[in-house]
Amino acid sequence: MSLNAAMPFSQLALPLTVRPLRPDDVEHLLHIQTICYGAEFLESKAIFAQRLACRHHCSIGVAYAHQAQTSLLAYLAAYWSSPGKITPLNGPFTPPVVGEQVLYLHDMSVLPELAGQGIASHLVQHVFQQARERGVRQAALVSVQGSQAYWERQGFSVTNVNDAQQFKHLQSYGEGACYMSLQL
Ligand SMILES: CC(C)(COP(=O)(O)OP(=O)(O)OC[C@H]1O[C@@H](n2cnc3c(N)ncnc32)[C@H](O)[C@@H]1OP(=O)(O)O)[C@@H](O)C(=O)NCCC(=O)NCCS
Repeated sequence: MSLNAAMPFSQLALPLTVRPLRPDDVEHLLHIQTICYGAEFLESKAIFAQRLACRHHCSIGVAYAHQAQTSLLAYLAAYWSSPGKITPLNGPFTPPVVGEQVLYLHDMSVLPELAGQGIASHLVQHVFQQARERGVRQAALVSVQGSQAYWERQGFSVTNVNDAQQFKHLQSYGEGACYMSLQL
């Protein structure tokens, strides 16, 4: 499965496509983020444009197949990172250092009218597959907005953060945020 090729969304009756996100998706992405996240989690256009322009992101979005190059209905912002690193709120997607890599899931949103149809699970499985093909064996994320149970169902478990700097990054998401990881 290549990130450069749009993938048919075969599990759903809807004619949906998964495709890589590009810098010019930022307006649509922020629109979905505004609907799906509380004000305390909204991030700047500048930082998201920078993230989507970097070479090590593997972010994907869902669009109607006939509008694949324009509107988005859901997205998963993700990138190749290093073990134990946490992206602070509004922080850059820092490139991985040489060595073992981690699939870092930064942010995932599905428009409410499409919720509960397996779109988020499909996006997660899509990037897991990308990771396995790349030899990446770990995924990590920060759970917010009470989503811990959702991520546990995807196989993640809460993981301690022992590094002071990374703990500060985790704290940028406020109380209730937790760091989670999974072996692929
Ligand atoms: C979380 C989210 C991405 C799930 O998208 P989705 O496409 O509806 O998810 P799926 O269809 O794959 O899975 C739906 C299942 O997850 C459950 N679920 C959804 N959000 C959940 C949450 N926050 N906590 C626990 N379970 C949750 C649903 O109840 C449903 O359960 P069911 O299968 O037993 O009916 C979507 O609800 C969303 O955009 N939420 C707002 C943004 C957010 O909180 N993102 C995660 C933060 S790290």
